[in-house]
Formats: sequence, structure tokens, C-alpha cells
Amino acid sequence: MNKFHFWWRYLRHKTPWDTNITPPEIVALADRLPVGTALDLGCGTGTNVIYLAQRGWRALGVDFVPSAIHAARRKARKAGVEAFAHFRVGDVSKLGWLDETSAYVPFSFVMDIGCLHALTEAGQRAYAAHLARLTERGATYALYTHQRREQTHFGFTEAYVTALFQPAFEVISATLGTDTNSGRSSAWYELRRC
Ligand SMILES: C[S@@+](CC[C@H](N)C(=O)[O-])C[C@H]1O[C@@H](n2cnc3c(N)ncnc32)[C@H](O)[C@@H]1O
Repeated sequence: MNKFHFWWRYLRHKTPWDTNITPPEIVALADRLPVGTALDLGCGTGTNVIYLAQRGWRALGVDFVPSAIHAARRKARKAGVEAFAHFRVGDVSKLGWLDETSAYVPFSFVMDIGCLHALTEAGQRAYAAHLARLTERGATYALYTHQRREQTHFGFTEAYVTALFQPAFEVISATLGTDTNSGRSSAWYELRRC
């Protein structure tokens, strides 16, 4: 799905994912993990970056739709966490601008809620290479994505996710479910940086 698709959806407020609610899976990870630096890839209007910043994390969100990033910055200001929650307009498969000169790098926690499956295969490979480059050993990567079923051609299998992030990451868990917005099969993955 290209940038225009998402740009149009934010413009028309056709963004059912934008609930302002942090998913329980992220809440549980934020409770479990030591406070550190976090990256949200495809952060939308920043709900989860702000949630982490409110709990002492330094968090960065990246999304390629400018209006989503503007909304995220407004929300962070309103929540009083703009010193800990930063946002940048950018493509998650082109993160070359983000390197060790950034105070955030390496990240100890990265999340992606519904972004990776929107990329082309080449984009997914570039994204995975950046993720390996930008994370510390032992870092956690939480991924929510559409899950491919045998009869469909959309979404990922666990084998695909495993192969995409190898050898830098190992899959710790995969929890299958159903996406409440689309009715499609979905999965939460937790991966660990080797
Ligand atoms: C399903 S929405 C989820 C947004 C957010 N993670 C949430 O849970 O509210 C997917 C997001 O990924 C963003 N996105 C998709 N492809 C992207 C890309 N190549 N680079 C940056 N952002 C992208 C879209 O603009 C959109 O905000």
C-alpha cells in the first residue's frame, strides 16, 4: 500500500486503527521491560509513543503521513510529554537518517502495529536490515500483522517472519487472533535481538 492510500485515509478519517488506546500486548511489554529507548514504526498519531513516554521511556515514532505526525506532536504536547516523545515524518524502509549519532540509538524496544505488511517485499527486507542495525542485543521487537492462511495471499506466515528477521532476531512467541477492524487473521509476534 502506498503513501497516498494512507494519506487519503487520514484525510478522510477512515482510520479505524486510530483508537487512542494502547493494545494490552504493548501495555504488558511496557510493564515487563526495563525502561529504555523505543521506536514505533508506522506510529500513526502516536498513541503508543506517548504511552511509553508517560512511563519514562524515550520514544520515537516514524510515519510517512505528515498529518498523522502533526497529530502525534499535538497529542504529545497536550499530554505534556513532548520532551520524551519525538516524531518524524519518514518511510520505515528508508531509515538511513537514523544512526548512532541519535540519542535514541540503539533501541531496546521496537514496535510495529500494522505497518510492515503494507510494505513491498523489497521494503520489508530494507526495514529488517535497519531494525538489525538500530537495536541493541537483547532488544524486544513487537510486531502486529495480518497472518497468512493457506487459502489467502495476504499477510505473513510465521516462517516468513522468522526468515525475514534472521539471523539478527529470533521469534519468541506468535499469538494468532482476528483483527477487529478487518476481520482478517492476525498475529502478535515477539522477537528478540540475538
Ligand atoms: C494500520 S496503521 C497503524 C498505525 C499505528 N501503528 C496504530 O496502531 O495506530 C499503519 C500505519 O503505518 C503507516 N505506514 C505504512 N507504510 C509506511 C511506510 N512505508 N513508512 C512509514 N509509515 C508507513 C501508515 O501511514 C499508518 O499510519
